[in-house]
Amino acid sequence: MAPSSSLLLPLFLFLFLRSCQLSTSALPSLTKGASLSVENPDDVLVSPSGAFSAGFFPVGDNAYSFAVWFSDPPCSGAACTPVWMANRQFPVNGRRSSVSLLHSGNLVLTDAGDVAAGVWSSETSSPSAAELHLNDTGNLVLADDRGGVLWQSFDSPTDTLLPQQPLTRDTFLISARSRSNYSTGFYKLYFDNDNVLRLLFDGPSISSVYWPYPWAPSAQLGRFLYNSSRIAVLDPLGRFQSSDNYSFSTSDYGVAAVQRRVTLDFDGNLRVYSREPGPTGWAVTWEAISGIPCFIHGVCGNNSLCSYDPAKGRSCSCVPGYVPKVPGDWSAGCVPDFKFSDGCVADEMGFVKLLYIDFYGYDYNSIENTTLENCRRTCLRLCNCRGFQYTGQTSGTFNCYPKIELLNGHNLPSFTGEFFIKVPKNKTFTEDQLVKRTHYSCSPAPEVVLDRTYAKKGKNGALSFMLWFACVTGGIEIVVVFLVWFFLIRNQQDVASAHQSYLLAATGFKRFTYDELKKATRNFSKEIGRGAGGIVYKALLPDDRVAAVKVLSNATTGEADFLAEASTIGRVNHMNLIEMWGYCAEGKHRLLVYEFMEHGSLAQNLSSPELHWKRRFDIAVGTAKGLAYLHEECLEWVLHCDVKPQNILLDSDYQPKVADFGLSKLMDRGKVTNSDFSRIRGTRGYMAPEWVSNLPITSKVDVYSYGIVMLEMATGISPTASVHSLESGGDAKQIRPVPWARDKMKEPGRTGSRVEEMVDPALRGDYDPKKMEMLIKVALKCVEEDKDARPTMSQVVEMLLRHENDG
Ligand SMILES: *[C@@H]1O[C@H](CO)[C@@H](O)[C@H](O)[C@H]1NC(C)=O
Ligand SMILES: *[C@@H]1O[C@H](CO)[C@@H](O)[C@H](O)[C@H]1NC(C)=O
Ligand SMILES: *[C@@H]1O[C@H](CO)[C@@H](O)[C@H](O)[C@H]1NC(C)=O
Ligand SMILES: *[C@@H]1O[C@H](CO)[C@@H](O)[C@H](O)[C@H]1NC(C)=O
Ligand SMILES: *[C@@H]1O[C@H](CO)[C@@H](O)[C@H](O)[C@H]1NC(C)=O
Ligand SMILES: *[C@@H]1O[C@H](CO)[C@@H](O)[C@H](O)[C@H]1NC(C)=O
Ligand SMILES: *[C@@H]1O[C@H](CO)[C@@H](O)[C@H](O)[C@H]1NC(C)=O
Repeated sequence: MAPSSSLLLPLFLFLFLRSCQLSTSALPSLTKGASLSVENPDDVLVSPSGAFSAGFFPVGDNAYSFAVWFSDPPCSGAACTPVWMANRQFPVNGRRSSVSLLHSGNLVLTDAGDVAAGVWSSETSSPSAAELHLNDTGNLVLADDRGGVLWQSFDSPTDTLLPQQPLTRDTFLISARSRSNYSTGFYKLYFDNDNVLRLLFDGPSISSVYWPYPWAPSAQLGRFLYNSSRIAVLDPLGRFQSSDNYSFSTSDYGVAAVQRRVTLDFDGNLRVYSREPGPTGWAVTWEAISGIPCFIHGVCGNNSLCSYDPAKGRSCSCVPGYVPKVPGDWSAGCVPDFKFSDGCVADEMGFVKLLYIDFYGYDYNSIENTTLENCRRTCLRLCNCRGFQYTGQTSGTFNCYPKIELLNGHNLPSFTGEFFIKVPKNKTFTEDQLVKRTHYSCSPAPEVVLDRTYAKKGKNGALSFMLWFACVTGGIEIVVVFLVWFFLIRNQQDVASAHQSYLLAATGFKRFTYDELKKATRNFSKEIGRGAGGIVYKALLPDDRVAAVKVLSNATTGEADFLAEASTIGRVNHMNLIEMWGYCAEGKHRLLVYEFMEHGSLAQNLSSPELHWKRRFDIAVGTAKGLAYLHEECLEWVLHCDVKPQNILLDSDYQPKVADFGLSKLMDRGKVTNSDFSRIRGTRGYMAPEWVSNLPITSKVDVYSYGIVMLEMATGISPTASVHSLESGGDAKQIRPVPWARDKMKEPGRTGSRVEEMVDPALRGDYDPKKMEMLIKVALKCVEEDKDARPTMSQVVEMLLRHENDG
């Protein structure tokens, strides 16, 4: 049993410490003269319902901030989700720091017992009584004896707004520096001088607004500029309303019994997170910049390009001819590896062309209707011109934009213009430098370790005895539980896998044993679906969550590869993609555990009266968002390859979630490369022409399949029915949806509306004709034969939503 004891010891310690944490009893409020000590885990203010707690929150090694966090379900230490911090910039020592409500009525935070070094204070005074308490809304309130509010945490948000907490003209959110460093970062949500709610990148040397999209006038984006009340708030049901007339509803809108928060994340995206009661994690239910994280400014510094991969996050690379200024520090950008003053000697300089690349801003000027040669000469003459953008390839009117800085560069496959970087004429580049370039990661620095020193002093004896006592009692409790558990162990393997699932549970993604899943599915008795990948069963997990378990039928990947791929898919978190909770890889068994979707698949619902027009449109938008997230610009991280109604699942609100993505990677690794699939995938009727014509397989195959599904939703005509009948030489009246719809759209409408003749009779004429026409048009664009003529999934989202706002 030697190996097992080495595994059990940390587990034992973990449970022991945990029991100490959980056996705390917290305070309802803090009165004058009282204080909370960083050293006493009991010194926590808890809101009446227990939903929130306030106290010292660990932000590093021996570094604490006075904070408010979600405490239902109970959590401990850094695993909790903070919503507010008093001293995010100046963490205090883990010894002898405290927060005290002075007799003057001032709430002060002191570091390491040094009263003179007040780190933070509420700057309040009150001659009469005062009391600090935590409201069930998450608001930490210092009130006087008549209930008047002297100070409240809702007035000084950090990076998070809670429901009912208004963002006003005087308040703003500032992101954290990184995932683990809570001090102020570079992104800001605020009301601008023109009353518009905006997201700003406020970097060390440059700043720029990136939301709402800066290249369109705010009024055109539906923002109202003349309401100077400047207030925005998320209501308890999940609707956000801002005084500039901007509003949205979260994807779980209407459900009150959910915890929500609006957080400006360190990556510059504003997101709403929701968490249902119970042991589930936070899920993104809305985000400001969806599917295109490189649109956020300031990701990479000067002269570099941002690209995105959901598994690895965003990364930067230098433009050709440039090298990182400070290797490893993306924000420093890139510098030319040639002397740029040479740039003035026009006849020594030339250009390299980049496609599908856009840089935002810093145009020296714009020259309309000009030739490429003219544009080149302009940039050559201009000493500080670093390159130019030349557009018009689709419109036929060619415009020229010489740039004096190359900032906010990113891949943009929809961008049809060309970009030219100025480099010395005699400099040559390999294909590799032009296409692959060296990537260096911009993932945040490793875990924060604050190295704090403090003066040692005798501790409160009685207090530490009580703490010690509590731990020992907790410990004995645990020893008993532990012994019982120990004697139930049957073999070594169970110990190993229990250890592993404990480790994975910490990341919200679990490895199950085959026996566990066999039990959860009642010996695989309740089949709920069947596809190329395998059979899906309904399951009840030990923690009472209802799940769908997919048994992969011919998975040949080794265990390590399978784990790597499964955990990559497991990390993909988007409201329109099915969430993977775990997996099992044991012997020859390969199983995946997903969230269960109440309403089954779109295929099962297509003829149901429940699928009314609004739901259909929402499904179109949601599915597009999910796929756009998967595709992520031109990286094509995951091609779905089998988009069809059977793979679009509907939750209890009929919101769509795309299922089965990434499966191709799990099924036969090695045979698949990004652009060359050795085997035809997908389902007849939904498959893009590229599959049979030997053309490269790109994300546009998913766009095609999506288009077919949308046509099916709009017209009710299934492409598979027609395929089968054509094959069997059957009924000639069977309709092939694409040519049929295309012809219909070309016909002049008999009674003015050709759309009317096309829509699914199941809708019984109850739909929005303008939106329906839009949906059909978008679907037809998606099913163009030529893959380059099809839009990208994020363009589809834009087209559908643009119409949403008009209508
Ligand atoms: C405290 O919360 C209640 C609702 O839970 C709310 O009505 C009240 O206004 C809040 N008080 C303050 C000071 O935020
Ligand atoms: C301004 O915004 C506030 C808050 O959203 C709203 O109550 C008010 O009616 C708006 N005023 C105008 C003139 O639109
Ligand atoms: C605000 O938006 C709504 C629809 O979202 C629209 O009906 C209304 O006219 C807008 N108000 C202003 C002042 O723009
Ligand atoms: C951009 O890079 C150049 C060097 O290539 C440097 O001189 C300039 O200051 C940088 N600008 C910013 C905003 O960092
Ligand atoms: C562009 O320039 C050409 C010649 O310089 C002219 O004939 C043409 O009308 C111009 N087009 C536009 C749209 O201004
Ligand atoms: C390119 O030209 C510059 C200036 O004439 C010279 O200093 C440099 O060595 C040349 N580089 C190569 C690779 O020929
Ligand atoms: C957190 O970020 C701030 C700002 O960049 C920096 O000054 C501080 O040193 C960081 N903290 C740690 C522990 O790295």
